[in-house]
Amino acid sequence: MSLPMHRLTPLFDVDAIAGRVAALGRELREAHADHPLTVIVVLKGSFVFAADLVRALGDLDVRMEFLGVRSYEGTTSTGQVEITHDLRRSIAGEHCLVVEDIVDTGLTLRFLCDTLRQRDPASLSVATLLDKPSRRKVAFTPDHVGFTIPDAFVVGYGLDLDQRYRHLPYVAVYDPGHPESP
Ligand code: IMP
Repeated sequence: MSLPMHRLTPLFDVDAIAGRVAALGRELREAHADHPLTVIVVLKGSFVFAADLVRALGDLDVRMEFLGVRSYEGTTSTGQVEITHDLRRSIAGEHCLVVEDIVDTGLTLRFLCDTLRQRDPASLSVATLLDKPSRRKVAFTPDHVGFTIPDAFVVGYGLDLDQRYRHLPYVAVYDPGHPESP
C-alpha cells in the first residue's frame, strides 16, 4: 500500500532546503572557526537535516554524537520528554551544537539543554531546521534556524507522523483530512 500523498502540501522543496542548509553551514563555520565542535544529533527527526548540515561544515574539527529523545505520539506532544539513547561519553569542556528537526512547544529542547548544561560543556548552541514560535509553551530561542513556519503539522526530510514520511526529500504540511478517507 502506498502513502496517502494527497494529504501533503509541499512547503519547502529540495532546492529551498539545500540553500538554507548551505547558509547555516556558513554561519556555523564562522561561529566555530577557532575550536573543535561536538555535534549532537537529536534522533530520530534530525537525522536527514544533520547529515546535510555536517557536510556543509567544511574543514571544521567536528565530532559527532547521537542522542535519542521521545516526546510525541501522532500529531500531539505528550509534554513529557524521555531520553531513549544517551551520550556515551562526557562533553565537559567541549563546544557543543545540538541539531534538531523542529522546535514546537520548546519542551524538548528546554529539557535537553538543561540536561546537557549540567554536564559542563564549554558552550552549547542549537541549530534547528524548522521553528514554530507560535506554539511555544516554554521560552526557548534556537541560535540557528533554517525556516520559521506557522502552526501546522509538517512531515518529510526526517520529520514523521507515526514513523512515516521521514524519507521524503522535501518538507510538506500534513492535512489529516476526514478520519475515514484513505
Ligand atoms: P517540542 O518539544 O514540542 O518543541 O517538540 C519537538 C519535537 O516534536 C520535534 O523534535 C519533533 O520530533 C516533534 N514535532 C513537533 N512538531 C512537529 C511537526 O510539525 N511534525 C513532526 N514532528 C513534530
